[in-house]
Amino acid sequence: MDRLVIQGGTPLKGRIRVSGAKNAALPCLAATLLTDSEVRLSNLPAVADIRTMVKVLQSLGTEASLETEASGFELTASLKALGNEELKAPYDLVKTMRASILVLGPLLARWGRAIVSLPGGCAIGARPVNLHLEALERMGAQIEITHGYIEASVKGKLQAMDHTFEKVSVGATENILTAACLAEGTTILRNCAIEPEIGDLARLLVKMGAQIEGIGSSTLTITGVAQLHGCSHAVIPDRIEAGTYVCAVAAACGDVVIDACEPDHLRALMDLLERSGVEFTEATGPEGRQLRVKRDCGQKLRSKDATTVPHPGFPTDLQAQFMTVMTQAAGISVINEGIFENRFQHAMELERLGANLRIDDHKAIVAGPSPLSGCTVMATDLRASAALVIAGLVASGETVVDRIYHLDRGYAGLETKLQGVGARIERVGGGRV
Ligand code: UD1
Repeated sequence: MDRLVIQGGTPLKGRIRVSGAKNAALPCLAATLLTDSEVRLSNLPAVADIRTMVKVLQSLGTEASLETEASGFELTASLKALGNEELKAPYDLVKTMRASILVLGPLLARWGRAIVSLPGGCAIGARPVNLHLEALERMGAQIEITHGYIEASVKGKLQAMDHTFEKVSVGATENILTAACLAEGTTILRNCAIEPEIGDLARLLVKMGAQIEGIGSSTLTITGVAQLHGCSHAVIPDRIEAGTYVCAVAAACGDVVIDACEPDHLRALMDLLERSGVEFTEATGPEGRQLRVKRDCGQKLRSKDATTVPHPGFPTDLQAQFMTVMTQAAGISVINEGIFENRFQHAMELERLGANLRIDDHKAIVAGPSPLSGCTVMATDLRASAALVIAGLVASGETVVDRIYHLDRGYAGLETKLQGVGARIERVGGGRV
């Protein structure tokens, strides 16, 4: 098993290009099930979760081909969803990636039946799928859970509804939005999540012929159509990957231009870090928007509090990385995790590196600045792993981040991109399992 070995203490300087958004690519891939025509998706990040979703689609009868783009960090997929007898997303694939549940809505909408493994537990806390299932039932689906599988079917077509999600959920919004595109009648979805990835999915669906109003807002109105068609679509840049590099510069200091990045998707993080002492400059370059992040090595950071909430508030997927930054800021920072109940597993590993912090239920209380000193740490989930890499860039001496298969699920070429801005980081084989 690979691990990352980092020699900390080097300021970061240069440019990093952000890949396409994993969390936009996954629902877009699932949406290709809605048509038998070819859909071509580009700017997909070359990460394990994308390959897993393509395998899920292949197991459902999709013909798929993947090409690596010139950058080496992005993929283009050509997909033709022909379907098969079983229409079953098996446990072996679903257990490695919860987002596989996103195939349920489109399968039901197109073929009127589906068998999808229940995703099960997750390192960052309970992640039920009740909101997805309740909404599909309201659209006429019969749902049974047997032997760990969701078995769903509908007589005829899914029916439109006026539905208010009980809780804001990214995945449930995506699943039901996609299903509603082929439903009978006009569906109104209220209290939808408004993460930028949902806007990207909606734009793909419109290119495929869907009728959707309210894109970008919390109320989506979808008029079902008889069939959808193929198209080409490039997914948006990954705001969480960009935010991770922003946090790396904030923590380790330096001056980095982040290319192909959309600053408007990062406002909550930028606002906090600006008030903490980090400088930002926005520009437009040949590859779209750019964000320059600068923190002089002599510039002290001030602590800031953060609470994770749905977009446009501070994202839970940047909480761990922000915590590492706060270990370097003067004062007390209270970080409140408002989305998932068990998302502080990086905290204990940060303590091993020398951070001064305490967990109190949903809050982490970080006192800084703390000098960090390198040691071996264990990655526990995708974003926790990124937080530990950032800590390794700050720490004196050598930090080894073990179990980086978590990182490989969501970051394309992380160590290569960081090497490009001067970080001393390398991947070696043979870490502990
Ligand atoms: C997505 C993102 C993930 C991010 C999360 C929150 C993808 C592939 N993953 O996950 O990176 O951390 O949004 O921004 O896009 N909930 C229920 N019942 C449900 C569904 C969700 O109670 O049926 C709860 C969850 O337990 C959680 C909250 O709602 O507390 C938000 O979860 P949700 O927005 O659904 O997250 P995901 O779509 O799984």
